[in-house]
Amino acid sequence: MSETSHRGEIAELLTEGRVLKPSADFRAQAQYADPEIYARAAADPEGYWADWARQLHWFEPWSEVLEWEPPYAKWFVGGTLNACYNCVDRHVFNGLRNKAAIVWEGEPGDRRTLTYWDLYREVNRFANALKARGIGKGDRVAIYMPMIPELVIAMLACARIGAVHSVVFGGFSAEALADRINDAQATALITADGGYRRGTIIPLKHDADYALRTTPTIRHVFMVQRGSFPLRVVEGRDHWWHRAMQDAEPYCEPEPMDSEDMLYTLYTSGTTGKPKGIIHTTGGYLTGCLATTKMVFDLRPTDVFWCTADIGWVTGHSYVVYGPLAAGATIVMYEGAPDWPDRDRFWQIVEDFGVTIFYTAPTAIRAFMKWGKQFPQQHDLSSLRLLGTVGEPINPEAWMWYYETIGGGRCPVVDTWWQTETGHLLITTLPGIHDMKPGSAGVPIPGVEAAILTEDGQPIGKGGGYLALTRPWPGMLRGIYGDPERFVQQYWSKWPGLYFTSDGAKRDQDGYYTLLGRVDDVLNVAGHRIGTMEVESALVDHQSVAEAACVGAHDEIKGAAIVAFVTLKAGTLPSLDLEGELREHVARKIGAIARPQRVIFSGDLPKTRSGKIMRRLLRDIAEGRVLGDTTTLADASVVDSLKRQYEEREEAG
Ligand code: PRX
Repeated sequence: MSETSHRGEIAELLTEGRVLKPSADFRAQAQYADPEIYARAAADPEGYWADWARQLHWFEPWSEVLEWEPPYAKWFVGGTLNACYNCVDRHVFNGLRNKAAIVWEGEPGDRRTLTYWDLYREVNRFANALKARGIGKGDRVAIYMPMIPELVIAMLACARIGAVHSVVFGGFSAEALADRINDAQATALITADGGYRRGTIIPLKHDADYALRTTPTIRHVFMVQRGSFPLRVVEGRDHWWHRAMQDAEPYCEPEPMDSEDMLYTLYTSGTTGKPKGIIHTTGGYLTGCLATTKMVFDLRPTDVFWCTADIGWVTGHSYVVYGPLAAGATIVMYEGAPDWPDRDRFWQIVEDFGVTIFYTAPTAIRAFMKWGKQFPQQHDLSSLRLLGTVGEPINPEAWMWYYETIGGGRCPVVDTWWQTETGHLLITTLPGIHDMKPGSAGVPIPGVEAAILTEDGQPIGKGGGYLALTRPWPGMLRGIYGDPERFVQQYWSKWPGLYFTSDGAKRDQDGYYTLLGRVDDVLNVAGHRIGTMEVESALVDHQSVAEAACVGAHDEIKGAAIVAFVTLKAGTLPSLDLEGELREHVARKIGAIARPQRVIFSGDLPKTRSGKIMRRLLRDIAEGRVLGDTTTLADASVVDSLKRQYEEREEAG
């Protein structure tokens, strides 16, 4: 098909209300094909979730499915289980000993396959290595690693002994790592000498050493030797992973954990400068991950499941590790960048490993689209049977490209909405049941209930409003580490008893939800959540900056790009060098993902009478709608006049 006629076809498919049906072939084999499941779950949500929970192995059964005293939920009360046992031992004992659990490829091209038996052996030993150093139930363990199998082993080993893992994305800076370690009061850190990204080495232990200067609670550091990258070893505190494994006993009894014992914390951005440690517990979380992996991805024993998310984010926790491993699936893990050494790397992996289910983010799809279809077309992608997206709204054009170019028009696409806080996906289509509407996520999964509300909690029939979750679900967050008040304030105070998502949404006549983006000061940059306040705090930490305000400007690939407006201290002059320095300053304080794309020096920042920064005006400036040449902003009177024009327009309605 020529490029022009292809575009014509996409345009036609994008006409309002376009609905696509998963292929008859897919529907014929789908395991969840009866829409009755929704009605059954709605009639008895607790019974429904209990049926899923029974697929796990429990040491002691629960006495009550749900105890709900808003906003506090307990799922599977009194039950005891172990997440690691469920993800590893259970499969080893049930005939999957020799099944591949992890199929891994490093960026330089090295490969490893770990069967469930291999995983069992590694996890047991590492659990003992931790235990031998006094790390046990309830202790917090920070993990700062590249995407290598040891990352999964480390998480499962923590789960095995009841330690709470706190994975920090390897792209975060040393300072961000230190903040997270200190907030959780972690006693151990697991890292690596380095990892590969776009052909260069990310020196994780070297960076961690900076963090370790200000983290007095850390007693032990484990380091995987990924390459032979130079690093400093502190005798007594720092341990090579392979040496610790040699000395460790081969079997470690899994700790029976209460269903509500903490499994992990994961830090995510909010509307303040300080990231929140989201708490997930064991029984409900694992049940939700297992159920959604099986149901939404129509998982079968023969599948090869590839979720491309880094495990540093919640998507990696739930759909690289806990969901698919609890289901006994084969997962693919890749260490590096999608365009290294060339832009067909992902498609090479799909072909080489025979990936059947592929789950990625819209930002990646938009990049693939820009690179061109010649890259996927170099490879045989016929093993794929289902595609998923997550993390941000997907524009219908990217959806169609994904569906046609990657899925060959044969694979249904599930657009899954959820959050770090929700633990597992909550709104999507079930591919054996629903038609697909590009750009619209779908409906709440069975056993979940959502609503679109006005500011004062009234349901909205048509049009947009705030997305709320109106009934507890098993994977829901149980708190914010060390900050119980913020938990209540942030999620449960807008409408008592209802969970406030901070997302806007609308619903169509078929009940499909279309997500409209965040309604708070949180940006979604390339599928990563970044609080504007965090970036602003990093900027004002610089000696030259008096005040800063950040907004998200539309970006074709990343969704949003960070644009920072900065007022300098008296006596400091704006310059290109200073812009560069400020961008680097943010990258150093938070990580490269938070580096502003642009810094605009402004003589003043436009504020309302109550002192609130007029972010909408800043966004209009950043996107060139009200002022072509932003350099004039350095003149405070320009800001003032723009502000006045804005206020007049607002007053005129
Ligand atoms: O705004 C929503 C967006 O991502 C936010 C959650 O970000 P995070 O906690 O980092 O988790 C991302 C991966 C689960 C949400 O508040 N979001 C997530 N999935 C979608 C989405 N927006 C639209 N469509 C989605 N499928």
